[in-house]
Amino acid sequence: MTRIVIVSNRVGPLSDEGKAGGLAVGLADALRKRGGIWFGWSGEQTPEGIDGPAHVEDGPVKLVTVDFSEEDADEFYSGFANQTLWPILHYRVNLANFERRFETGYDRVNKRMAAKLMPMLESGDTVWIHDYHYLTLGQAIRQGGFEGPIGFFLHTPFPAPEIFAALPNARRLGRSMLEYNVIGFQTERDRRNFRRFVLDELGGTTEDGELLDVDGNHVRTGVFPIGIDAERFAEFAVSSEAQRRERQVRNLIRECQQIIGVDRLDYTKGIPERFHGFERFLEQHPESRGRIFLLQVAPVSRGNVDAYSDLRSEMESLAGRINGEHGGLDWAPIRILTRGFARKSLAGIYRSSRMALVTPLRDGMNLVAKEYVAAQNPDDPGVLILSRFAGAAAELTEALIVNPHDDEDVSGAIQKAFHMPLGERQERWNALNAKVRKTTAESWAANFLDVLDQIHRDENTARRA
Ligand code: ADP
Ligand code: G6P
Repeated sequence: MTRIVIVSNRVGPLSDEGKAGGLAVGLADALRKRGGIWFGWSGEQTPEGIDGPAHVEDGPVKLVTVDFSEEDADEFYSGFANQTLWPILHYRVNLANFERRFETGYDRVNKRMAAKLMPMLESGDTVWIHDYHYLTLGQAIRQGGFEGPIGFFLHTPFPAPEIFAALPNARRLGRSMLEYNVIGFQTERDRRNFRRFVLDELGGTTEDGELLDVDGNHVRTGVFPIGIDAERFAEFAVSSEAQRRERQVRNLIRECQQIIGVDRLDYTKGIPERFHGFERFLEQHPESRGRIFLLQVAPVSRGNVDAYSDLRSEMESLAGRINGEHGGLDWAPIRILTRGFARKSLAGIYRSSRMALVTPLRDGMNLVAKEYVAAQNPDDPGVLILSRFAGAAAELTEALIVNPHDDEDVSGAIQKAFHMPLGERQERWNALNAKVRKTTAESWAANFLDVLDQIHRDENTARRA
């Protein structure tokens, strides 16, 4: 087996302590059994930044991280990655900031990270780059002389080409992505959007819809929905730590039912819209007051970007208003926790919740939906309410699928879940659980890497012929 070198902005941890972010969780699950190198940002800022010494944590998976300078963190991470690309990839053109210094910072960090990586690469390595932070890193590595396979996986959605084209450097970014041997997407919709972008905006062609060609440069595209290590997560859910959490919740809620929401505090997750949907439910079903509440776990994310701090204020004041208007002396409809939880505790919290509201406005996949399913008690499983705009909805069709913008629809789904008979809950859960267990993080990585390996070999054979 060749050595795998993974590059992503966020690296690890491989332990199970309070981490938030689907990429880190999915990659840790995938790499734990396979081994390799994982390279990216330490999360720290120092004056030397990328030029300073790398931090190395040895183990079956070798973690190699570098610091950023303040300028790199500002222009690359908070800037182009999270104020320009992230909103565009999630269809929020109104929130995108097109400051030119962000673009310069993005190019600089992509090139410097490639230069830092080059001496670590050996012939025979396979490089797998992840997510929107590093769209152009593959090109920089190729230009540095690396000849092995380079793959790319986009964890977020790829938007309709009309939206992506709003980026001032959309064409240049798109063209640089042709340097990858394989690009993986979460869903067919994302792949189709990318294909339309390449054909309409870059003048590309395709014969089979998968291999895209622009002036002799070509890239293979594929759909590889990411999963979780479901078996391990199900074990977490019956661990003593999870059981302790479950008891804690049940003692607190007694006859009440708990709805759970778990999301990084991000405007793509539809948290205010979810609160409006829940409020609608309380208005339409006054008899349910005091019998159900929503626990929203929302760890703060990217807090120095205005759109994120604005969202925090919006969420808190909305919950305050709803609690004030609808609550009683012994019952508040919405509780908010902004802390992180260890994975076992989280599994216990999922298991003690009668339903999960996973209602992002746009999401690449959404691992919370899969974790909620994996954590359920087969004898008394909860109900998953899932946005049609999450990548997970393409697979998890037995969930109650909703339009998160429509508070009537969300309210109706809560009512249905609240009264769903055990037989139907079990039937839906059995189907969902079978799917969650089938496409795991490990099989996701193996599928992608098999395709990458095959494509690279075919291309070498064709080149030699
Ligand atoms: P995203 O990648 O956009 O954050 P996902 O739903 O795909 O969304 O992944 C989020 C991951 O972060 C999940 O694995 C979830 O368990 C984890 N997570 C979210 N909130 C917390 C929290 N408060 N404590 C621990 N883990 C969390
Ligand atoms: C999403 C992105 C990841 C990112 C994660 C957490 O899952 O696709 O690339 O790591 O959110 O965001 P953060 O900015 O904290 O890394």
